[in-house]
Amino acid sequence: MTQDELKALVGRAAIDHVVPGTVVGVGTGSTVNCFIDELAKIKDRIAGAVSSSQKSTERMRALGIRVLDANEVESLPVYIDGADEIDHHGCMIKGGGAALTREKIVSDIAERFVCIADASKLVDTLGRFPLPVEVIPMASGQVARRLRALGGQPRLRDGVITDNGNLILDVSGLSITDPAALEAEINQWPGVVTNGIFARNRARLCLLGTAEGVKTLEF
Ligand code: A5P
Repeated sequence: MTQDELKALVGRAAIDHVVPGTVVGVGTGSTVNCFIDELAKIKDRIAGAVSSSQKSTERMRALGIRVLDANEVESLPVYIDGADEIDHHGCMIKGGGAALTREKIVSDIAERFVCIADASKLVDTLGRFPLPVEVIPMASGQVARRLRALGGQPRLRDGVITDNGNLILDVSGLSITDPAALEAEINQWPGVVTNGIFARNRARLCLLGTAEGVKTLEF
């Protein structure tokens, strides 16, 4: 199976985790796009969706899915999103699509994070995928210096302005052995909006697309 076929497979499988009659949290990316296409088929059975990006919002609205503002809901039973990397504890690197801050907000509202990913995303240690860090523009130089002091090599993502009007630094060279500690450390620096480590809001379930079918990992 191709990577796109594996994404379609887990996008379909995720429908079983949508709670009928409720609002569902929806992430961003090519895997989630497959999920959104499936969600459109059952749009009359859900109360709507809270979106983590302009791109997902546009796709859902084009398919007739009702999109609510995050402030209109008090809780979400489930948040469904992809990942750039996921480890064997459900910790992830996210933000390859620059939507990390809104993804973290929506996942924080949700009771349960269901990750959908093809098998190439499963890793032993996070960090081969460059860690995205969203920064307020005037802080990018100082945050980059701090990231270098940690042993990383930050690079400003060319031509990218996030949905929140900020910049992204992609940090390579980090071997993230303690995801929760590094997430907390980087997040406390002035000018950092958030970083792409999802340890505090880790996945509770991962639907992993493999050549043998969908494998369910529980954390
Ligand atoms: C978006 O900012 C990301 O967090 C995505 O969830 C992640 O990059 C996975 O994207 P794909 O499904 O396109 O691989």
